[in-house]
Amino acid sequence: MTAKHSAPEKHASKKPAPIQQGFATRAIHAGQEPEPATGAVNVPIYASSTYVQEEIGKHKGYEYSRVSNPTRDRLETNLAALEGGIASRVFASGMAAINAVASMLKAGDHVVAGHNLYGGTPRLFNQVLANFGLTFTYVDTSDLQAVEKAFQKSTRLVFLETPTNPLMELCDLRAIAELSRKHHAEVVVDNTFMSPFFQRPISLGADLVIHSTTKFLNGHSDGLGGVVVCTTPEQAQKLAFLQKAAGAILSPFECWLVLRGVKTLAVRMLQHDSNGRKVADYLSKHKKVRKVFYPGLPAHPQHELAKLQMSGFGSMIAFETGSLANANKMLRKVGVCSLGESLGGVETLISHPATMTHAALGEEGRRKIGITDGLVRISVGIEDVEDIIADLDQALAAI
Ligand SMILES: Cc1ncc(COP(=O)(O)O)c(C=O)c1O
Repeated sequence: MTAKHSAPEKHASKKPAPIQQGFATRAIHAGQEPEPATGAVNVPIYASSTYVQEEIGKHKGYEYSRVSNPTRDRLETNLAALEGGIASRVFASGMAAINAVASMLKAGDHVVAGHNLYGGTPRLFNQVLANFGLTFTYVDTSDLQAVEKAFQKSTRLVFLETPTNPLMELCDLRAIAELSRKHHAEVVVDNTFMSPFFQRPISLGADLVIHSTTKFLNGHSDGLGGVVVCTTPEQAQKLAFLQKAAGAILSPFECWLVLRGVKTLAVRMLQHDSNGRKVADYLSKHKKVRKVFYPGLPAHPQHELAKLQMSGFGSMIAFETGSLANANKMLRKVGVCSLGESLGGVETLISHPATMTHAALGEEGRRKIGITDGLVRISVGIEDVEDIIADLDQALAAI
């Protein structure tokens, strides 16, 4: 008996919130019903590694917290409801979630992946999983013909980010999902940059959705985590098995942090988006900024697709300062914006992809996809936007 399939009434969500409910309602209520024993409005942190059993094989649905935990169950219910999946499984980090999806494959399987992904993803693929007989082809996923050409007989998975990290390239999810179905491959979308508030890949044909919950879902830069949202019971079962077998699960405390974070996801995303548009507009008019990568700008080559596929543009922006020296001059001066890795927190985070998130690609790898030494990425937070812009203005003056 595994709790995944038989969680007891007392601790389980009564039933998943219907998808018809609004996003903010689902974020606050799905899986987040008051705790029945006490009426506590917040899901408790079940800090228990094990659960008492009445006799051999007789228990309340929970046996051991690597297999399942009531706080984790609640978060998994919530995130599935937000993405429109049938279930979700949470892991210790975004990378652990990606690794779990790849662990559903077997030696000899082939993966088509975007050529511009978060740097840690190709690092996992090339430096770890390739040693176990998986093969990878990287393509510009904004080019449908290139995607079509990359399929092989053994292709099982198409791994996408849209928009990509950090160059903000989009791909047409509906078209790639159709193509992948023809080739009997599943589509996995890393939806970290948009969050389910602005983009719902399952509704466009994706089979699995991944997030680093470390980012917008948590939203407060105080915990790592990852999730895989499933569209079939088979996927949910396989991933529950991987939680139990490989053990990279999210702790009850960090599950609780995400449960708390998602309650404000809708209002945070609206503010991120509003601030993101204003900062992108400011940067696009700045004479020292050579190029701005933001799908909300009419000059972005996929602005029309962005309007179709996403319900907002978010707050991830990359911009070109011209050189490593220029990037460093400005990054040394920022104050309201914090220089650091990560994204999606309430605070504005500014980073240098070539030496941070995409260092693992090497110079040649970065050159191939267009990540220059002068590129700066900003995750616009929800501070007063005038203060963010004033900070960027004084920092850019150093160039
Ligand atoms: C788009 C994207 N996917 C996945 C990850 C990995 O997530 P984590 O750092 O939680 O392992 C990151 C991290 O920056 C990311 O930006």
